[in-house]
Formats: sequence, C-alpha cells, structure tokens
Amino acid sequence: MPDFETILTEKRDAVTLITLNRPKALNALSSIVLEELITAFAAFEADDSQHCAVLTGSGDKAFAAGADIKEMYEKAAADFYLEDFFSRWTSHLVKAVRKPWIAAVNGFALGGGCELAMMADFIIASENAKFGQPEIKLGVAPGMGGSQRLTRAIGKSKAMEMCLTGRMMDAEEAERSGLVAKVVAHDVLIEETMKTASQIAAMPPMAAKVNKEMVNAAYEMTLDQGLLHERRLFQILTASEDKAEGMAAFIEKREGSWKGR
Ligand code: CAA
Repeated sequence: MPDFETILTEKRDAVTLITLNRPKALNALSSIVLEELITAFAAFEADDSQHCAVLTGSGDKAFAAGADIKEMYEKAAADFYLEDFFSRWTSHLVKAVRKPWIAAVNGFALGGGCELAMMADFIIASENAKFGQPEIKLGVAPGMGGSQRLTRAIGKSKAMEMCLTGRMMDAEEAERSGLVAKVVAHDVLIEETMKTASQIAAMPPMAAKVNKEMVNAAYEMTLDQGLLHERRLFQILTASEDKAEGMAAFIEKREGSWKGR
C-alpha cells in the first residue's frame, strides 16, 4: 500500500484494518480522505490474501464527524454539480467492493460519517458511538446516502425525525433500531470487530461475496426478483469447488479448506 496522509492501513492475517486518521478534525471526510479510501479499498479488493476489511476512526472521539465542512464552505454550487460531488463514495466504496467490510464506529458518526458507516456491510458500535444526520443545521441535507440508507435501516418515522431535528442517536438506540449489528464496550471495539472480521475471512471467499450480493439485492429488487436472484446464485454456487469441499468436510467431520472458487 502507498503512504497515506489521512488514513492508516494494516493487514492482520486475512483482514485489512483501515483507520481514518484526522483526529484533530474528528476524522472529517475531505477530498483527500476520499481519494485515499478509494485507493485503500481498491488494494484490499485486489489482494487475494485479504478476505474482509474493517474501517474505523482514530482517536477516542469520532468515527467521522461528517463531510469536511470547511472544504464545502469554499465550493460553489456549480462545482458540486459538475464534480457530481459525493457520487464516488458509493461507486468506489459500495459498488466496486465485492468483499465484505465492517464499520467499527468508535464515537461520532455524523452526516457523511454516519453515511460512510452505512456503506459498510454492517456496523459494530462502541458504547460511545453517536449517530446523526445533522446537515439540516448547516442549511443542507444528507448527500452521501443518509436519506435513503438510514430510512431503509431504521424506517421512515425515525429517519425523518433524525433528519429533521438533526439529533444524535446513541449506540443503544442504534442497536434497538436495527442500524447497528452489535454494541460492544469502547475499549474492546477493534478487538471484537477484528474477531468478527476474522470469522468472515475464514469463510469460503466466493460464498462470502455471493451472500453479500444476495442481501444487498434485497434493497434493489422486488421480492419475486430477489427470490429468483437468490435461487440462481445459490444454484451457481453449487458448481463451486468450495461447495464440494464444504459439504464433504461436514460429512467427514473436519474443517473445510477453501479454494475461493
Ligand atoms: N468538517 C470539518 N471540520 C470538522 C467537522 C466537519 N464535519 N467536525 C468537526 N470538525 C473540526 C472542528 O472544526 C474542530 O476544528 P478546530 O479545532 O480547528 O476548530 C475540531 O474538528 C473539533 O471539533 P469541535 O471543537 O467542534 O469538537 P466538539 O467536541 O466541541 O464537538 C461535534 C463535536 C458535535 C461532532 C462537532 O464538531 C460538530 O457538530 N461537527 C459537525 C457535525 C456535522 O455537522 N456533520 C455533518 C457535516 S455535512 C455532511 O456530512 C454532508 C453530507 O451529507 C455528506
């Protein structure tokens, strides 16, 4: 991996840990952060030794306190439109990444920070995590997917209330509302998330991609289309070497060993 200015990356066995590293700015998501995340996620995706990634924030206070307000303050509306500002987050961190990745939210996840966490396949939060879409207080609105992904995650009533008041939701409420998969003590967040990531990384890699693709399809398709998509992907997987190995390993009462195809 190249040297980065605003993020840190580290490989721990088959798991890549990516850390937003602008703690003085509460890990605000500047254009440089975006470019570096795109590079880091592309490297993770291309590396056959890496099977799951974890994204977190440095410092004790924030995962990310949003898109960089100081940078946006300087920009004209035409620039936002002509650059199709924010579009590359979804295209490069969601659509282009077929391997699973988890957001480990260690503090504020506000505005773009909450939206970035929701781009992950799921979120594990520390007890200190605080989620919110406070853009309304800046005279704007979510721009990196908050109005859509938050609504799908927690339902219209709560998402509408969050966006219209700009209030923060704590970790306990986020878990109760279905925004996060699990809440853990603050000082074991990375350890616990890495454990979950290692479990996923030990699964048959092609099956992991297919499982991810299937669940994501539930957001895009009707029930009938989604069920058909699921059956077809299931049927394709039955032709894989890992299906033969996985089922043989079960019958022979041993651990499977995966080819990833
Ligand atoms: N962009 C740029 N800098 C930010 C930032 C952001 N989103 N959030 C915090 N910072 C900076 C602050 O300016 C401050 O820098 P200085 O020391 O140079 O002044 C530093 O981080 C520490 O922040 P605070 O002093 O404000 O810390 P605090 O503990 O008093 O408050 C906070 C913490 C409540 C999170 C507060 O920083 C805050 O409200 N931040 C902005 C949250 C926000 O509005 N996010 C949405 C951004 S818009 C967006 O994301 C658009 C979109 O949809 C994609």
